[in-house]
Amino acid sequence: MSFRSIAIDGPAGAGKSTLARRLAERLGFLYVDTGAVYRTVALAVLRAGADPADEGQVIPLLEGLDIRLDYGLDGAQRMYLAGEDVSGAIREHQVSGAASKAASIPAVRTFLLDLQRKLAREQDVVMDGRDIGTVVLPGADVKIFLTAAPEARARRRLLELEERGQAADFQTILRDIEARDWQDEHRTASPLERAEDAVLLDTTDLNLDQSLERLLVLVKERIEP
Ligand code: DC
Repeated sequence: MSFRSIAIDGPAGAGKSTLARRLAERLGFLYVDTGAVYRTVALAVLRAGADPADEGQVIPLLEGLDIRLDYGLDGAQRMYLAGEDVSGAIREHQVSGAASKAASIPAVRTFLLDLQRKLAREQDVVMDGRDIGTVVLPGADVKIFLTAAPEARARRRLLELEERGQAADFQTILRDIEARDWQDEHRTASPLERAEDAVLLDTTDLNLDQSLERLLVLVKERIEP
């Protein structure tokens, strides 16, 4: 039997992970956060004292990398590095920048390809990332490119951080977002780009519920219940 897959790509802060998770819940699909996998590689690189932008330092580390992805009883995706649950550690600010750098290395992308494709071969998935519709699952049943203006994304990130009690500054967040966008869009290996057959959803003026409703309509037009 073949499984159904929904690919959601787009820049950081467009609401991808929250929306993909909620969409998966509504459909009874597994939510796969591929950014968390790149973050786990980046954390391993940082812990090894290596430079995530330096291929020569990163590639030799890949062979010995023990990365596992698992789902808890609550259905939340958890990441393990050499058996240690690093789901919290990979969300640190420093890891975001390192993940974007390590993700530019073609060998890192190739290394993670099978792991991502295997998940979609074994169950119905909503997978989010940067190259899911273009490279990882080019045959996905539904492809969505989710975006929002950088200022809207920075505002959402600021609120998120404030809710977690972390001090943050709007201009710094905006600069970080724009730098990451640039890095993700301009790398040669699988840059962030909209697949030709992806539907564009701009969430600048939509809240989460409105965005989710739009997504559900798009999906239901394309997938049999
Ligand atoms: O979605 P995120 O912010 O957790 O992703 C972290 C970094 O990983 C991001 O800068 C780009 C990279 N990434 C990628 O290149 N391809 C993916 N499929 C997912 C993430």
